Amino acid sequence: MNTPLTILGIESSCDDTAAALVRGWPGQADVLSSVVSGQVDLHAGFGGIVPEIAARAHAEKLDIMVEQSLSKAELTFDDLDAIAVTAGPGLIGGVLSGVMCAKGLAAARGLPLLGVNHLAGHALTPQLTGGLPFPYLMLLVSGGHCQFLLVRDHEDYTRLGGTIDDAPGEAFDKAARLLGLCQPGGPAIEAAAQGGNPARIGLPRPLLDRDDCNMSFSGLKTAILRARDDLAQEKGGLTKQDQADLAASFQAAVADVLVEKSRRAVVTARRLVPSLSRFSVAGGVAANRRIRTGLETVCMDLGLGFTAPPLALCTDNAAMIAYAGLLRHAAGEVDDMTLAARPRWPLDTRSPGLLGSGKKGIKA
Ligand code: KG4
Ligand code: ZN
Repeated sequence: MNTPLTILGIESSCDDTAAALVRGWPGQADVLSSVVSGQVDLHAGFGGIVPEIAARAHAEKLDIMVEQSLSKAELTFDDLDAIAVTAGPGLIGGVLSGVMCAKGLAAARGLPLLGVNHLAGHALTPQLTGGLPFPYLMLLVSGGHCQFLLVRDHEDYTRLGGTIDDAPGEAFDKAARLLGLCQPGGPAIEAAAQGGNPARIGLPRPLLDRDDCNMSFSGLKTAILRARDDLAQEKGGLTKQDQADLAASFQAAVADVLVEKSRRAVVTARRLVPSLSRFSVAGGVAANRRIRTGLETVCMDLGLGFTAPPLALCTDNAAMIAYAGLLRHAAGEVDDMTLAARPRWPLDTRSPGLLGSGKKGIKA
């Protein structure tokens, strides 16, 4: 086999500043180091991510993350074959910070520069972590993304559907706020739901009456607000049990939509690739046990293998960017100093754009 490639990855498209080193070949690579610095505390008082604060924090942290990733892997710039950086989609200030950092390093060290689509990074993660061969169906489900992608190659993605408004993680976060739970909302709702009755509150299952793979989660937020207020008015406040029942009912509604739409996405994907046998999930919401179990059941019913990357590489990180860069580099692709930061960058330019955007920007 040829000499392995060693790629530095840089990620700063949302609220995580990350750097990582990945070494290997297409289909068989190792994560040598992966460091992530989050910004939850910086945005905590604002009810969402403040783009200017995010961009400034990225600019301050990027070189520190790069240094940490190199020292953890016990490598220097001399060991690198290329530098890969998220060039979009995402918050423009953050993406620009990363691209400028990568350009500076590439120019100073005479290394090839590779711009990577953040969504491609997520979509390629199961191949980095488990060697999953193409083609496979991917459900990307996080605080900023929600889409079904048929992944046939590192440059060939077909988007089969996605959210037309909020991403599920965003809906979990908003619902948690409405129920007085802490952030991030997903794990808080999951914990509260443990003692709750998912059938007590009748919440809608949006867009299940439509035969496609598109989803909507913003209405659920309004529904949970109404249910909360009705219960509180009845009794003059919410009991712990009410809170648990609301959380469980909300989680069940999101899970039912994701699971049923996944079933439809498999059917749709098999029309394009009849031999399709693999399904993977990525993104923070993939941590949810009820959702994961539901997806596993769909895969078992339909005869597909199910894989989920380890959580640390499901959420935003730079190892996925380094690996996507490794595939580009191995294919002989390269960018130059004109590489632009792109706030919007759909992976599949053939599919029509989806409506709306989430707090972190649906981006495609
Ligand atoms: O992938 P991620 O770390 O960041 C981006 O959004 O890009 O995902 C974070 C999201 C948050 O909205 C969080 O509430 C959600 O993933 N999340 C969960 C769980 N753990 C994290 N949602 C549901 N259940 C969970 N256990
Ligand atoms: Zn992401």
